[in-house]
Amino acid sequence: MLTARRADRLAEVAGQITSSGGLADTYQLDVTDQSAVNKFAAGLDRCDVLVANAGGAIGADYVADSSPADWLAMYEVNVLGTLHVVQALLPKLIASGAGTIVLMGSTAGLISYEGGGGYVAAKHGTHAVAETLRLELFDKPVRVIELAPGMVKTDEFAVNRFRGDTGKAAAVYAGVKEPLTAMDVADAVAWVVTRPAHFNVDLMVLRPRAQAAQHKVFREQ
Ligand SMILES: NC(=O)c1ccc[n+]([C@@H]2O[C@H](COP(=O)([O-])OP(=O)(O)OC[C@H]3O[C@@H](n4cnc5c(N)ncnc54)[C@H](OP(=O)(O)O)[C@@H]3O)[C@@H](O)[C@H]2O)c1
Repeated sequence: MLTARRADRLAEVAGQITSSGGLADTYQLDVTDQSAVNKFAAGLDRCDVLVANAGGAIGADYVADSSPADWLAMYEVNVLGTLHVVQALLPKLIASGAGTIVLMGSTAGLISYEGGGGYVAAKHGTHAVAETLRLELFDKPVRVIELAPGMVKTDEFAVNRFRGDTGKAAAVYAGVKEPLTAMDVADAVAWVVTRPAHFNVDLMVLRPRAQAAQHKVFREQ
C-alpha cells in the first residue's frame, strides 16, 4: 500500500511494482491530516509493516534568519506526520503478532549542521519518537527501527529544501561521485523488515562512502 499526496506519482510507482510481478495499491494521503490518516487506517484489514517515510526539509537558513513557518511545516510532516501514522496503525501492528515500524530519520536527527536548524530539530524529533516508542512497546510484538540516511540524491529533497532552486539543489551533490539513491535506502528498508521478528535493528546509519561524516565529504574537482 503506497501513500503520498500526489496520485499520479503513486500510480507511476505502483505501475513499476506490478509490472515486475509485485502487488501494489495506492491511497492519496497527507500524513499531516490526522483525520485522513485515521480514515485510511480504518479501511485496512491488517498492517504488518509500517514504513513512515514522508518528510523533508524546507530552507537552509541560519537559526538567526530562519522562518518559524518553515520550522512548523517541517515539524508537522517529520514529527506529527510520523505520530499520526504510528497512532493510527499501532493497534493493527500489535494485532499482527509480529509488527514492524520503520521510521525514516536522518543523520540530521543525530548531529547538527549549520543551516540545518529547523530540519535538524524536526529529525531529532523523529529520533525521539523512535527511541520512546521502542521503550513503550517493549512488551508488545512490534519492533521499532530507525533509519538515518546521510546524503541521498532523491528526486525532490534538495529541490524542496532550496524552494525550487535547482542550481542550489544540484550543488549539494556536486562532485560527489556516488551519493546514495532512493533504491539504496529501499534496499536497507527491505533488509531490516525481512529479518526474523525477534531481530531488531534499532538504528541504521546509511551514508555514501564519500561522506565520512556530516561535514567531511569527498568531492571530485
Ligand atoms: N534525500 C536525503 O538526503 C535524505 C537524507 C536523510 C533522510 N531523508 C528523509 O527521507 C525521507 C524521504 O525523502 P526523499 O529524499 O525521498 O525526499 P522527496 O524526494 O522529497 O520525497 C518525499 C516523499 O514524501 C512524500 N511526502 C511529503 N510530504 C508528505 C505528506 N505531508 N504526506 C504524505 N506524503 C508526503 C512525497 O510525496 P508527495 O509530495 O506526493 O506527498 C514524496 O514521496 C524524508 O523523511 C527525508 O527527510 C532524506
